[in-house]
Amino acid sequence: MKAREIKQGIYSVGAVDWDRRLFDALIPLPDGTSYNSYLRKGTNKTALIDTVDPTMQSVLFDNLAQLGITHLDFVITNHAEQDHSGTLPVVLEKYPDARVVCTPKCKDMLVDLALAPGERIDTVNDKETISLGDRTLEFIHAPWVHWPETMLTYLREDKILFPCDFFGSHLATTDMYITDEGQAYESAKRYYAEIMMPFRTNIQKNLEKVKDHSIDIIAPSHGPMYDRPRFITDAYRSWAYDDPKNIVVLPYVSMHGSTKKMVEYLVNALAERGVTVKQFDLTVADLGKLAMALVDAATIVIGTPTALIGPHPNVVYATFLANALRPNLKFASIIGSYGWGSRAVETLSAMIPNLKVEVLPPVICKGFPREADFKALGNLAEAIAARHKQNNFVS
Ligand code: FEO
Repeated sequence: MKAREIKQGIYSVGAVDWDRRLFDALIPLPDGTSYNSYLRKGTNKTALIDTVDPTMQSVLFDNLAQLGITHLDFVITNHAEQDHSGTLPVVLEKYPDARVVCTPKCKDMLVDLALAPGERIDTVNDKETISLGDRTLEFIHAPWVHWPETMLTYLREDKILFPCDFFGSHLATTDMYITDEGQAYESAKRYYAEIMMPFRTNIQKNLEKVKDHSIDIIAPSHGPMYDRPRFITDAYRSWAYDDPKNIVVLPYVSMHGSTKKMVEYLVNALAERGVTVKQFDLTVADLGKLAMALVDAATIVIGTPTALIGPHPNVVYATFLANALRPNLKFASIIGSYGWGSRAVETLSAMIPNLKVEVLPPVICKGFPREADFKALGNLAEAIAARHKQNNFVS
């Protein structure tokens, strides 16, 4: 995208990446992404807020050229991850008077990760400000959204918050502000689930840090901006603070139909008891959707066949992911089948130390499930529904 004016003297100068389909060689990007960079010209000084992914550096430089920018005083670096800071060394070469402004932790990381010149980097304390003349930038340390060095930048007079990854979404669009709220909510929730959820308590603290700031616009470094900030701050409050809901997430694999039959039975038994189930066949599932489902769920039931005595590798991967994302789950169980022997339950149980859950009795059957197995699945559904009810988890 070409440079666009947000308000007088403030421009969006970043890049939209329509075609990127994988982030960190890990996270699916079904809707692409953007690397947003912002320019604020004050009466005395000019600041660039965050840069772009190195693959898009020509877009950033073309946009700065379009605006006639030949001099930068500051490059505000909210976050050291390469999609925002990978272009920093080239920006510093092109603008030899520019000073980098970041947190002390971020300085070390920029030197290590981007090989940025440390002598060009100034660090700021929490709540410290710098003046651009008629405009003031306030820096709000916000550790762990989602790295330890992160900060937010607040442009006081214009009431714009630049939170980098915080409140972001992987969504490629020509729109400066969100237009389709349903799509924006889905993209932001996916982003929260995959990137922010492991740091839920830090998210809560950082939400408190900005709650008294008067904010007209939130301008994140991924996805469109929010001209109705409550849309995204309320969503974050809900994801970070709310109790889990009356939902079971059921990721599974079935090799020869036995586990699938058990999954079908359990899903029906739960639905009959008023529990919402989100079922994912891990041979085809979008793991981003699984992560989103984990934001709200109270219970996870993992379904696996036995392969080489252990759980199916796709189930191992999804279980590792669920444990790493640290969702607010309260209960867990395992169902599945085996032909002649299995250590699947022991292996999976040992993989979820981060999930502070009560583990309900697993249901593992030899071969194809029979009456006793269906009865055990019914008991499991009953136990889950009862616990959700006791805890007042609502849909
Ligand atoms: Fe968008 Fe943590 O980088």
